[in-house]
This record gives sequence, structure tokens and C-alpha cells, in this order.
Amino acid sequence: MALEIDRVTKRFGAFPAVQSVSLIVAPGEFLALLGPSGSGKTTLLRVVGGLDVPEEGQLRFDAQDMTLTPARERRVGFVFQNYALFRHMTVAQNIAFGLDVRPSSTRPPAREIKRRVQALLARMQLEDMGARYPSQLSGGQRQRVALARALAIEPRILLLDEPFGALDAKVRKGLRQWLRTLHDEMKLTTIMVTHDQEEALALADRVAIMNAGRIEQVGTARELRETPATPFVRDFLDDTPSHAQGSGI
Ligand SMILES: Nc1ncnc2c1ncn2[C@@H]1O[C@H](COP(=O)(O)OP(=O)(O)OP(=O)(O)O)[C@@H](O)[C@H]1O
Ligand SMILES: [Mg+2]
Repeated sequence: MALEIDRVTKRFGAFPAVQSVSLIVAPGEFLALLGPSGSGKTTLLRVVGGLDVPEEGQLRFDAQDMTLTPARERRVGFVFQNYALFRHMTVAQNIAFGLDVRPSSTRPPAREIKRRVQALLARMQLEDMGARYPSQLSGGQRQRVALARALAIEPRILLLDEPFGALDAKVRKGLRQWLRTLHDEMKLTTIMVTHDQEEALALADRVAIMNAGRIEQVGTARELRETPATPFVRDFLDDTPSHAQGSGI
């Protein structure tokens, strides 16, 4: 699905957390959103997901205006940092949640939900863990359950806000490669917020750099490094560790 963010502004009181942001994400694209703390990354994702309504601008999914469409009608998959699974539900019940809560007119039959959950468990390499509770899983396994839960509704766009923030570097590296493969195989359109520049540059087709509520530049890792549009972009990427620059991406 193609996503168009067209001059979107979201204010909290008088404070513009997102200021006239325009961005087009192509069908099947994996876009990383980078920027300092407080620059508006989460707010922008919340606007796309329908958790916040912008004061100005328009959002389009495949050219269709979605600006005022309620979140549950957008078919957006969300995974947040430190994403809390429902502790009193099993892994399988967590994954099925987004389907189970649908009104009966749009809810798939129980056996179809079961089939989807089983397929997702297999894809997440969690086949035998459907009956476990979140407390019985490792951090990386929990993150994969959170992803499976987001994918169960067959989202048109996947929004990830620091999905691996709580994990150690090694687990993170394994999971991110796995996520990119999943994105390609399922033909998802994905926006992922990360603080980790190396992760963004290694994983995404394009990277958008945010600063003070605005997008300073969008481009491939190479474009951003070779032709930074603003001093901010140049300085921000200069801080990236040199081993990431040598990765050939
Ligand atoms: N509900 C809210 N009410 C008031 N101000 C808010 C609210 N949510 C966010 N803000 C402010 O909007 C700005 C952008 O916040 P946002 O959470 O989008 O930043 P971020 O880029 O995701 O930062 P981080 O990397 O720390 O997660 C911040 O200055 C924040 O304090
Ligand atoms: Mg945030």
C-alpha cells in the first residue's frame, strides 16, 4: 500500500510536535524514521495509525483520504517500544486479539482465526509456544509475539516504534535481519522508528531524518551521507560509528 502524508501538522496546545510534514512511502517500502528525542517520530506514527488526529494536512492510503478514519478501520499494525503483551492471555490469545475483538460482522470464523494464528506462530518460529504465557518467553520471543499480533489483522501498513529498544545488541541484530526478510516475504509497507542509526541504515530502503517536528531529508543511506541537505543531517549522521559506514550499504 502507498502512504501519502501531505503537509500534516499535529499540535499539543500551541506546541507543534509535527510541523507540515510531507512524506510518500511506496508500496513494499521499508522506511526508517530517525531523529533526536522529542523530534516528533512517535507523534507522526500515531497520526498515521489514527491514534492522534492532525490539525492540518491530509493522510492518504492508496490515494484514499484517511485523515479522519478511526484507527480500527485503517488496518494498521502497531508495535511499540517495550510493548506490553496481555499477561493474562496466552501467546495464541495475544496474537488473535485484534481479530477476536472485531464486531461479528467483520470477524473471521473461529477456525480461520485459529489457522491464521498457527501460520503466524510458524512464521515467527514460535510453533510450540502458543499455549505459553508472555512471562514464560524470552525478550526476543515476546517481541516476535508483538509483531505476530500486529500482523494478524493483515495490516496495510506496519508501524514499528523502537520495536527492539529493550533488547541487547546481539538479539537485536538477529531480529532485525529476520524482520527485513519478513517484510519482503509478506510484501509489507513498513515505517520503523529507531534510535540506532546503524540499524536504520542497514535495514531500510530509505531513511527519513526528523528534527524539531520536521523532516529534514529523506533518502537512501548513501544519499544522506553523500549529499546531506542540511547541516543538521550532516552532523547527525557524522555521529554514526565508523563500522556502520563500512558496511557497504
Ligand atoms: N500527549 C502529549 N501532550 C503534550 N506534548 C506531547 C504529547 N506527546 C508528545 N508531546 C511532545 O511532542 C514532542 C514530540 O514527541 P514525540 O513523542 O513524537 O517525540 P519522539 O521523536 O518520538 O521522541 P523519542 O525519541 O524520545 O521517543 C515532544 O516535545 C513531546 O514532549
Ligand atoms: Mg518516540
